[in-house]
Amino acid sequence: MKLSESNTMVNLATAFASECQEGAKYQFLQIKAEAEGYENIGKICQEHSTNEMTHARIFYDYITNDGKDCVSNIDISAGYPFKSGTLIQTLKLVSGDELNQATVIYPNFAQIAKDEGFEEIGKKFELIAEVERSHYLTLEQLYAKLEKDCLYNSEKAIQWKCTECGHEDTKKTPWQICPICRAKQGDIKIPLQF
Ligand SMILES: [Fe+2]
Ligand SMILES: [Fe+2]
Repeated sequence: MKLSESNTMVNLATAFASECQEGAKYQFLQIKAEAEGYENIGKICQEHSTNEMTHARIFYDYITNDGKDCVSNIDISAGYPFKSGTLIQTLKLVSGDELNQATVIYPNFAQIAKDEGFEEIGKKFELIAEVERSHYLTLEQLYAKLEKDCLYNSEKAIQWKCTECGHEDTKKTPWQICPICRAKQGDIKIPLQF
């Protein structure tokens, strides 16, 4: 089967559109987080945005055959949501979208690609689904910590790190102002578990 005549081509276009809007949404979320003093969450959003745009480029390269082909139009129903809210609400909403992509959409696209004989594309959908799952796990922990107001609290002493100067200290609650560079609490790297 030719890629141009396959369902996989439509799925690649859908995934490309989806990744682009996710890249943009993470940038909006970064602005929201930074405005509330959470530079650390902003940095995570920035990293996720870069990841999504890289995924978009990978799908784009398949669609255009590494830039050798031009495709004038692919009709898609992207099916992605337009939702927003407070920082916590948005983290929760985006996290749900990531989970859906990781566990439903991309595994489905991977199976279709393999059934149509596009083994490599199928594998790529599977690998990218794993990244989306890691995005989901990150956001899930962030909104849970924000919701419980324990972003900077730990039941036992843990190592905290300033993302600006690299200062580290092991305790239950970290500094308000970094003793070395005077960076804010919002610059402390948030400890996450995977
Ligand atoms: Fe992605
Ligand atoms: Fe993602």
